[in-house]
Amino acid sequence: MRDLAKAHIVLANVSQVTTLANRFAQLLEDQATQYNKTPWIIFLEGDLGTGKTTFVRACLQAMGETGKIKSPTYTILESYEIKKWQIFHLDLYRLADPEELHFLGIEDHFTSDAIFFIEWPKKGLGVLPKPDIVLNYKFLAQGRALELTAFSQRALPLLESIHEICV
Ligand SMILES: Nc1ncnc2c1ncn2[C@@H]1O[C@H](COP(=O)(O)OP(=O)(O)OP(=O)(O)O)[C@@H](O)[C@H]1O
Ligand SMILES: [Mg+2]
Repeated sequence: MRDLAKAHIVLANVSQVTTLANRFAQLLEDQATQYNKTPWIIFLEGDLGTGKTTFVRACLQAMGETGKIKSPTYTILESYEIKKWQIFHLDLYRLADPEELHFLGIEDHFTSDAIFFIEWPKKGLGVLPKPDIVLNYKFLAQGRALELTAFSQRALPLLESIHEICV
């Protein structure tokens, strides 16, 4: 899988995660409004506790979700209707086999107004579509390092959010 661009940011604390998520969510909505022939697929990688759910939660709140956003650790899939979007938040950590994704019926959700945030995507390899963007988190002594990689043209503006926040 060939990447088109990469960006890096240090997220020193959760408040910086919120700042990034606010910008990221706004750009995601803008891009998804224009380029929605296929669902948007965002992979979140990184060890246990590196902040994947924290980021998704902040994005959903930035998009307008006011209800409780629980981690899909046990349910594997949580879904939200926000404005015109169908948003699916998956945590595949407990998946024994990628084929289990068929039982969750995820293909039924591959509609043009769908946005997927997928934690532990490697557990779904072979069944999941190619991502637009991959977020990879690593622990730092203070906070987290985040690497963003874009795999589609339509995802490139989302990496600009990083540069804007870094300056
Ligand atoms: N940038 C950050 N700086 C400091 N703490 C953070 C940062 N991002 C997240 N955290 C904290 O890290 C903890 C774990 O976060 P979270 O549950 O989002 O991890 P996760 O990657 O989803 O883990 P899992 O793989 O178990 O699903 C939370 O207490 C959260 O507040
Ligand atoms: Mg999580």
